[in-house]
Amino acid sequence: MARQIGEVILEVEDLHTYCFTRFGTVKAVDGVSFNLRQGEALAIVGESGSGKTMTALSLLQLQPRPAARIVKGSIRLEGEDLLQKTEEQMREIRGKRISMILQDPQTSLNPVFTVGNQLIEAIRNHHAGETGRSLVRRAIEGLKQVRVAAPERRVEDYPHQISGGMKQRVVGAIAISCEPKVIIADEPTTSLDVTIQAQYLRLLREIQEETNLALIFITHDFGIVAKMCDRVVVMYAGRHVESGPVRDIFNHPSHPYTQALLRSVPSMDEDVKRLYSIEGQPPALWDLPSGCRFAARCEYAQERCSSEYPPSFTVGLNGSTHSASCWRLREST
Ligand SMILES: Nc1ncnc2c1ncn2[C@@H]1O[C@H](COP(=O)(O)OP(=O)(O)OP(=O)(O)O)[C@@H](O)[C@H]1O
Ligand SMILES: [Mg+2]
Repeated sequence: MARQIGEVILEVEDLHTYCFTRFGTVKAVDGVSFNLRQGEALAIVGESGSGKTMTALSLLQLQPRPAARIVKGSIRLEGEDLLQKTEEQMREIRGKRISMILQDPQTSLNPVFTVGNQLIEAIRNHHAGETGRSLVRRAIEGLKQVRVAAPERRVEDYPHQISGGMKQRVVGAIAISCEPKVIIADEPTTSLDVTIQAQYLRLLREIQEETNLALIFITHDFGIVAKMCDRVVVMYAGRHVESGPVRDIFNHPSHPYTQALLRSVPSMDEDVKRLYSIEGQPPALWDLPSGCRFAARCEYAQERCSSEYPPSFTVGLNGSTHSASCWRLREST
């Protein structure tokens, strides 16, 4: 079945998640908005510490509590306001409607239970009243779906008996076992080697084609974005600074930060002497400037940039969904 981009199923608007610590308020997510459509693969890209994981955790209301709290914004899943849900209702939504593959697959599996038991634990929620044997059958099916070889044997294995790549697939199988509408894959590949990483990402895309679910990929890597995603949200210091269709972002990166990120992607056919890296550091999230957060590192920064935060400007023709928050775009609109 071909993948079809359908209705908007997830709408995130002006999300703010702050961590209240002894040292002050860390504005980990400080104004993030995006939409996600059925069948779509959306990338969230940005440097380490830009708030990608915290955004994802907030969608499931799994931000580290009690320190972190969602202080503003809205999250709507199929029109329902998730911030109005009780913890019990959220428990129903997690896994069944939105599911997350965590950054580190090694820690998402419990070492003292078999692969089969951990899958069954997830499946049981969705197929209450089924017997043990039929749940085992479903677990084996789940492993087959993520192309694990000899799944009948693997269900009996403990996590330490299987390879890193296979662990990642098991975590993937758990995430899709309840047929969620949305899967968030947070850097699903950092601890894997490049070939296994490519295979795993291809697999996620295949599963997406079979089930038409919506995917959010969280990554540092623009190479992955180009290969895997339809749209991109670029985050910097807790905010989205640019978003749009992948092709538009690659052809016309419009925020200086996006341009810098793209310059730092090594190209296969160029003999790169030195990887481009962005000078300086992002601002501290507990002491943010009032203007553009990238200003201190930006080669185009002007006076206004350090005093006023730029609004989001549409890039390209009217009706385009490509937008970026940079004062330089004001002249061209
Ligand atoms: N429990 C916490 N208390 C205080 N600050 C926190 C807490 N958890 C995360 N942060 C801060 O929130 C900010 C955003 O973190 P987050 O994990 O979302 O970044 P990220 O974009 O996912 O980075 P990476 O690419 O390294 O995974 C960071 O500056 C981090 O230090
Ligand atoms: Mg992260």
